[in-house]
This record gives sequence, structure tokens and C-alpha cells, in this order.
Amino acid sequence: MYNYHLHQQISALLQKHTTAAQDKLFYARFMANSAAINTLYHELYDQHAACEEAFEKLLTVIITAHEQRSAALQQKDLLKQQQQQAWFLSNHITGMSLYVDRFCGNLQQLAEKLGYFEKLGVNFLHLMPVFESPANESDGGYAVSNFRKVDERFGTIADMRELQQKMLEKNMYLMIDIVLNHTSHKHEWAEKARQGDAYYQDFFYFFNDRTLPDEYEKTMPEIFPEAAPGSFTYVPECGKWVMTVFHNYQWDLNYRNPNVLVAMLENILFYANLGVDILRIDAPAFIWKELGTTCQNLEEAHSILRLVKQCVQVAAPGMALLGEAIVAPREIMKYFGSGEYTAQECDFAYNATQMALQWDALATGNTAVMLKAQHDIWNKPYGTSWITYTRCHDDIGLGFTDETIRQAGFEPFAHRNFLKNYYAGTYPGSPASGALFSSNPKTGDARISGSLASLCGLEKALADNNSGAIDTAVNKILMMQALSMFIGGVPMLFYGDEAAYTNDYSYETDPGKSYDNRWMHRPVINSRKSKLAETPGTAENRVFTGTQKLISIRSNLNVVADKSNITWLSPHNIHVAGYLRDDVEQRLFCVFNFSNSQALLTWFAFKEKTNAPTLLYDHWTEQNFSVGADHEYLVIAPYGFHLLEVK
Ligand code: GLC
Repeated sequence: MYNYHLHQQISALLQKHTTAAQDKLFYARFMANSAAINTLYHELYDQHAACEEAFEKLLTVIITAHEQRSAALQQKDLLKQQQQQAWFLSNHITGMSLYVDRFCGNLQQLAEKLGYFEKLGVNFLHLMPVFESPANESDGGYAVSNFRKVDERFGTIADMRELQQKMLEKNMYLMIDIVLNHTSHKHEWAEKARQGDAYYQDFFYFFNDRTLPDEYEKTMPEIFPEAAPGSFTYVPECGKWVMTVFHNYQWDLNYRNPNVLVAMLENILFYANLGVDILRIDAPAFIWKELGTTCQNLEEAHSILRLVKQCVQVAAPGMALLGEAIVAPREIMKYFGSGEYTAQECDFAYNATQMALQWDALATGNTAVMLKAQHDIWNKPYGTSWITYTRCHDDIGLGFTDETIRQAGFEPFAHRNFLKNYYAGTYPGSPASGALFSSNPKTGDARISGSLASLCGLEKALADNNSGAIDTAVNKILMMQALSMFIGGVPMLFYGDEAAYTNDYSYETDPGKSYDNRWMHRPVINSRKSKLAETPGTAENRVFTGTQKLISIRSNLNVVADKSNITWLSPHNIHVAGYLRDDVEQRLFCVFNFSNSQALLTWFAFKEKTNAPTLLYDHWTEQNFSVGADHEYLVIAPYGFHLLEVK
């Protein structure tokens, strides 16, 4: 709805910024989004003393950021917007997430390594946090002490710009994080707060004594119960308690203060102007706190994300947002936006539910839980997408619900226990080598650490020099990757997994890492493994070339672009999961056998949900299959899969 006063306010600000004022597209976007920005902002901050002053700053931040956006990025924004469907729904984007230092050293060296990604087929890089973060109190970079300064370990902001420039020339996409929920306790704001500066104490949640922290803790789950129990930390310099939901050196920002929002929006748009294509919003579920709640997934957290989305659309429309909400399946869906903001919040979320379900099916050999859980996640708004993955730098949380486990015919407690023991390698006969992460004896919860290869059994198989077990592990790795790569969304590989890196135990002797076993699956890339990946016949090479092939098949099948066009096949064989991807021009059946023996899948499965095909071409094995009668079967090898295009 038109708001005269808001229009006047924006026009007055634009008079001071003539270049922005003359940009008609910018002006149109600003006007189109201003009512939503105004409403969302005032719903959150109307009662705050600094409300109007901070609102004026917020509008100025948008204008200034747009003015500072380079011509090349504005051109790229335009090209992205001109595409028929959102640019990021494409099947031509495949990502890799990596630690710059552990992958190759620093940003300059990474710029020299772009050929490696091209060879593999990866054209989208997620750089794990590279901004300044105190050594040994870093949480892998997720404790940022300066949002604008690249940490010396990685190089400089100029190196970052140069890398982005090289990536742009190669049509590669870039993702970095904004760590929105907290700063390092060494951040300038935290330092000032520690010294007693009331203005900056209000940037965090400070308390004079334990009364309120005790109240909060009654309902706040612990995130790192082993390494950082509780959610508050005493600050002796000022004699107060500060909220620290994650580690005690990560201080939670107070988004009830509009100045915090504006300062962080400025950082977001600074990253946008570095040429970021997708911004990963770290831990968005936590950004609003309310006494008596879990302090996760609150309505106001969604309002903040919607507000950020609207502002980004105005200042840097080519940058998409990924909400890293690793929460219950139904809660994840809300990060795509709901109601009038459907598809107007985060463009992406991690398909964390599907990731965990694949690990469930791999351990049990049974796809029932995976299929039951789809109901909660299939209804993703058109125009939004998933980041799909099997492993990332974090642990695997068995985030699907007890209700789903029960519907699949299992008892939740025993089922979860089995999964944890299986992947920790303590279940008799388990081939996996992982470990439990953040076990909480009070709740019985635990998550799982371990690399893709080690959890699939390769570490033990190599140690035993057991060629049969090596084959099985390789098949499992590729099947897990294939399922997640064709399901819809942008696949995000985790560095090292493309070359079957097993766990790296060097973290155990590093005092800055030994308290956090997630480091076991964050390998340091080494020349020995890289050589093996290039040597035909090795497990590493089979995984590398298999991954390469999957990426190439995917980018040649337009039906795999994420048009929310997935239909799961009915479970005719409980060991097999299958889905159909279809559009007007193409149909693709993807079927995966999660058991260690051959599985038979009735041809009826291929006729039930679509017009009966007669001939199928398998892009994976490069074979044709004639579709048989309903009493005949497709035979799928143990841990095998097929990517069958209808001919
Ligand atoms: C996110 C990151 C994780 C980090 C946490 C706190 O979940 O992925 O690695 O520990 O946020 O910043």
C-alpha cells in the first residue's frame, strides 16, 4: 500500500545520493519493497527508543550499499534477474564447501586452484569463514572478531576480491557466511561492552546476576553440552553475565536492539558487494530470544530474515540467501517464508532432514523412515531451493521426528540408539568409523561426527586391506552422493569427500580443536591422497571419477533443475528408495538400493505415477533397459543405483 510519508522519507534521502537516485531500476525496487521493509521493521522495533533514528540509518545503508555496488556486479544482477526462472534453480550449479587453509593454504593459492574445480565440474564455492577470528577460540571461523577484515591466515580483502574476480571470469559462483547470531568475545563491540560501555552492552544480552539466566536456561536446549554447557558466561571485567548459546567465546547479538540489525545489515551488504552470489546466514534459528521458550525458530527471527531479504532485493538483487536452519523438518520449511512472505524469506535452506534420512537408511538398509518423512519436506514453495548434501563441516543430527520413526514401524529410542552406535562404530559388525558429538547425558541426545568415506566404511576397509569391503564402501559413497545430487536443489560437496578422505585425527593434538571432534571430518588436503585420486583403480580414484560423472550427468539433464518437480515412488521394495523428476520434455527415474544384497524392483513402480514408459536409458551404467511386465523386475546391485531417463 502506498505510504506518502515513507515515500517522502526515501526521496529526501535519495536527494543526498544522486547516483542512486538516478538509477531507475534501483528506485523501482526500493519503492516496490519499501512498504514491506517499513512494516516488518516497525512491527519489530516500534517500542524501541532508537526506532526512527535506526530506521533512517537502515534506509541509508541500503542506498549507500547500492551506490557502492560495482558496475560488473550490477550487470550480473541484471542478467540473473532476466532469466526465465530464478538463476539458482538451475541444474548447472554444483558446489563445494571448503576450509581455505586446510584445502590449499590461503586465498591466493585458492585462486590458482580453480582448475581443480573445473576438472571436477564444481562451479560454486562455499568458503568456510575467512574473516578475522581469534586463534583457538574460533569455532572454525564462526566466532568473528572483525566482519570486514580477512584473517591473516587466509590473506587480505584484496586477495578475496581478486579470487572473486577470477571466479567471475570463469562463471563460478561464490558463497560465504554471515555469522548473524553472535560475535567473538574479541569483537570491538564485545570489548567495549566488557569495559562497561552501556551502548555496546545493549548489543548483547547482559544480565547483572543469574536470576534471568537461570530462568532462560529452564527452557533453552544446550547446543554444545560437553564443550560449553549452559547458555551464559560470566564476564569478570564488568561483573555481569552474557548470553552465549554456542561456545562461551561466542556472544549472542541482541536483535531486540535495532542498532544491531542495522550494523549487521551493513555487513551483509558489504559481503554482497564483494560479489557473493549466495550468502549463508549462519544459525538464523537462534537470532531472537524470548524468556520461557527454546529461543529457537521464533516468529521474530523470521521477521528479521524477511526484512533482510527485502533490503537485499533492493540493494543487491543478484544475491540469494541461504538460511542455515538445522532444525526440525517442519520448522526448516518455514525459513522459505510463509503466508504473504511465501518464497520471500530465504531462497535456500539445507535439506538437513533428507541428509540425516539417507544416513538412517544406509545404516538400517530400510528406506521406510526416509519415505515417511518426505511428507514434512516435499511442499517447498516454487522458486526456492535446497542445498542438498550428504556431509558438511558439521555433525549429523538425527533431526527427523519420533513420530516419523514410529510411523515407519520402529521404536524411536531404540532406533536412534542403534543409529548412534552404528556410526560410532560400536554396534557389532558396523563398518563405520565415526564418533558421537555433543552427547548430552541429561537428554540422551547425541549427534554424529565422521567423514563420508569413514561413515561408509572405507576407513576400516582400507585398514583391513579388504577389497570386497572397499568396493562396498565406494558403492555406498557414490549412491549417497547420487541420491542427494538428483533430488532437486544445488548439490554441495564437502571438500575431501570427492577424493574419499577418511577421518583426519590430527585435531586431537591441537589445543584449539581437540575439544571438538567435528574436526575429524575436516581434513587437511595432502599430496598422497591427491595422487591416489589420480591413480586409476584406487578407491580414491573411483570416488573422484564417479563424482565427476554424477556432476556431468546432472548438468546435462535439465529435468533435474529444481522446479519442485519430484514425486517419490511407492515403496514396493523397502530397501529401495526412488523418485521421478519430470517436466514437459523429460522424465527421469532415480532408484537407489540401500541393502547389501541385490534388490528387485517391480516394473510396476515405473508405471504407477506416470504414463508407462517402454524404454529407459541409464545414464549411470550407460545401458538401456526395456520396461517389463508388472510381475517382472529391475535388478539393482547391492548399494547400486540407476538414473533412468524415459526414452
Ligand atoms: C553453525 C555452523 C557451526 C557453528 C555454529 C555456531 O551451525 O555451521 O559450525 O558451530 O553455527 O556458529
